[in-house]
Parts: sequence; structure tokens; C-alpha cells
Amino acid sequence: MSGNSPCRIGVLVSGNGTNLQAIIDRIEAGEISAEITCVISNKADAYALIRASRHGIPVVVHENAGFAERRSYDAETVEILRSHKVNLVILAGFMRILTDVMVNAFPHAIMNIHPALLPSFPGLHAQQQALDYGVRYSGCTVHFVDCGTDTGPIILQSVVPVEQDDTEETLSARIQKAEHQTFAAAIKLFVEGKIKVSGRKVLISE
Ligand code: GAR
Repeated sequence: MSGNSPCRIGVLVSGNGTNLQAIIDRIEAGEISAEITCVISNKADAYALIRASRHGIPVVVHENAGFAERRSYDAETVEILRSHKVNLVILAGFMRILTDVMVNAFPHAIMNIHPALLPSFPGLHAQQQALDYGVRYSGCTVHFVDCGTDTGPIILQSVVPVEQDDTEETLSARIQKAEHQTFAAAIKLFVEGKIKVSGRKVLISE
């Protein structure tokens, strides 16, 4: 992504939306040259929807409850994203695994943030997994999305120390601060056309 046409970002959320907020703030500050053209939530009560609306960003509630098939849910999500002319999809706390329908519609253009240093601790409760294992450091990972659970090519990672008296809450809060910086940095690289994918490796030109 680079050149004259500004990057059009679609953000998928399920919850609070602090990562969404961090991205909005950096775009509004002129640090990332892009536009968020829609925020889609699979939860009607996601606070992220309120954050988006406050900034005049179109929101879509697309609940998954009525869908027996994950692929048909994803096919509708693709339609919504296409109708907003999205060329980068951001999963900002979107708590669903994507099917091939989504992944193939936006090749190497879907990014996820995960609250651990992948490939350690994929899936749910990554922070608690790290605490239970007893690691001294954890962090966050921004990666391109494939059809696995947190398995796609890694774009950026940030390391965060684990303290002896950490709880899931305190470690999550420390990791989230790093997430906001790291996600924005990865999106900026993408928007500026500085990312290439070669097999499992993400090559960054500076
Ligand atoms: C973030 O910590 C993100 O890493 C995590 O959900 C949180 C969403 O917070 N995502 C996952 O665990 C995905 N596997 P936010 O809604 O405040 O951005």
C-alpha cells in the first residue's frame, strides 16, 4: 500500500476498543496517513462502537449468533468491507478465528494483535497462560492473519517484563500499553508501503 490513494482501513472489534482508539488518535494526529472507513462489531454492546461513533466513523453491528456456518458469516463481512472500499483490515480485539473466505479476500492485508510473544501462548487468555508458565517476559505480537489460531507471519513484536506479583489484570494492562504503540507502528509501515511478505517472513524496508 502506497502511492496516491489513501489507505482505507476496516476495523473489526468485539469489545472495549482501546486499540481502535489508539489507531484513531494517531490518524487524527496525522501520524498515520489513512482513513478508517468502517468499524464492524460482532457484539452489539461493544464499547468500541461508541468510540468509533464519537469520531464520526461508520459502524456496523454484524452479530454472528444467527450464523450456523462461519464461512457464510465471513462472506457477509467481506461484503461489508468491500462496500466500504477497505484495503486493510485490522482485527482490534476481534475474538473470532477467520475462515479462508476472509483470509483469501484480503491476502496479506489483515492484521491481528495478540497479547503474547507468538508463537508462545496463542488463543484465549494469553496473559494467564504466560503467568502460569512462569515466563519472565511476555509482550504483544502484530501479525498477518491466516486461517490458523494466531499463526500468520509476524510483523512486529514488543517485549514487556512479567513481575512476580502480576495478576492477569496487571500484566494485561502493561501489555496493552505496548499494544497501542506496536499496532500503530505496524499499520504505519503498511500504509507507507514498507512491508513485504516472503513466505513466513515479513520484510520491512526503512
Ligand atoms: C487486546 O489486548 C488484544 O490483544 C486482545 O484483545 C484485547 C482487546 O482490547 N486480542 C486477542 O486476544 C485476540 N486473540 P481492546 O478491545 O481494548 O483493543
